[in-house]
Amino acid sequence: MAIAPVSNPPIPQVTLVLAMSLDGKIADAQRGAARFSAAADLAHLEEKVAAADGVLFGGGTLRAYGTTLSVRSPDLLAQRRQRRQRDQPVQIVWSPSGNLDPQLRYFQQPVPRGLVTTAAGAQRWAETDLFDTVWVVPEAQTQPWDWPWVLAQFKQGGIHHLALLGGGRLTAELLGCRCVHEIFMTVCPLILGGATAPSPVEGAGFLAAVAPRLQLLSHRVVADEVFLHYRVRPASPEVGGGS
Ligand SMILES: NC(=O)c1ccc[n+]([C@@H]2O[C@H](COP(=O)([O-])OP(=O)(O)OC[C@H]3O[C@@H](n4cnc5c(N)ncnc54)[C@H](OP(=O)(O)O)[C@@H]3O)[C@@H](O)[C@H]2O)c1
Repeated sequence: MAIAPVSNPPIPQVTLVLAMSLDGKIADAQRGAARFSAAADLAHLEEKVAAADGVLFGGGTLRAYGTTLSVRSPDLLAQRRQRRQRDQPVQIVWSPSGNLDPQLRYFQQPVPRGLVTTAAGAQRWAETDLFDTVWVVPEAQTQPWDWPWVLAQFKQGGIHHLALLGGGRLTAELLGCRCVHEIFMTVCPLILGGATAPSPVEGAGFLAAVAPRLQLLSHRVVADEVFLHYRVRPASPEVGGGS
């Protein structure tokens, strides 16, 4: 019997991009916007956003910042046009409740917007055109969230490369489903501390025996910041996931 070649994965290439303090916090204990990284890190983040067809972040992150990072660099915009991508990737928020303030500046930004939510969450936005695309996830696929299914919907919608921008709860969801392929982590020269400050991966965590394993692809130092790039090793078949 002929074996069909393995086709492209049905989900986008997912790239996690985060900045953390030396002690592994992505915001301080007030869980506000994280504005502690330097200009080089912001440029690095814009570059990763510009490489993507879609950007995904959690509702907690959108509430903290009120905005999202659009592509502004003329060079990056020119590169997108050369690759026949539209100027801005679709900026997608995951919010099961859909309970987001329509007055957030995000809703005025000149970017395509997407929402991943439940039927109840979508109801809140039914009468508005503030989101260009709403992915309504059936209840059976939200306990737990079936991220491979959600990501397959993205891929069908033309999102082949997704930048995942946190926060910690959303990151835990996708890592738990083994849906993250590479990680860019910037280590910033400050210490935030505190038990309630968010870390890159929230949730229940992974037991060491089944924790996602990484391969360091590159490291770079700019002033006092360290830029790390890892590949997430595929899970071995006998090891189950779980956060
Ligand atoms: N340094 C960095 O690179 C970086 C990057 C991103 C974010 N951050 C920081 O990370 C923080 C936000 O991270 P986060 O982990 O709090 O949020 P998050 O991952 O951005 O979003 C949390 C999402 O989880 C959903 N959710 C599902 N079940 C939940 C439950 N039981 N309790 C709470 N939320 C639940 C929420 O849905 P609903 O919308 O329905 O509530 C929300 O959409 C902010 O302080 C932000 O500044 C830092």
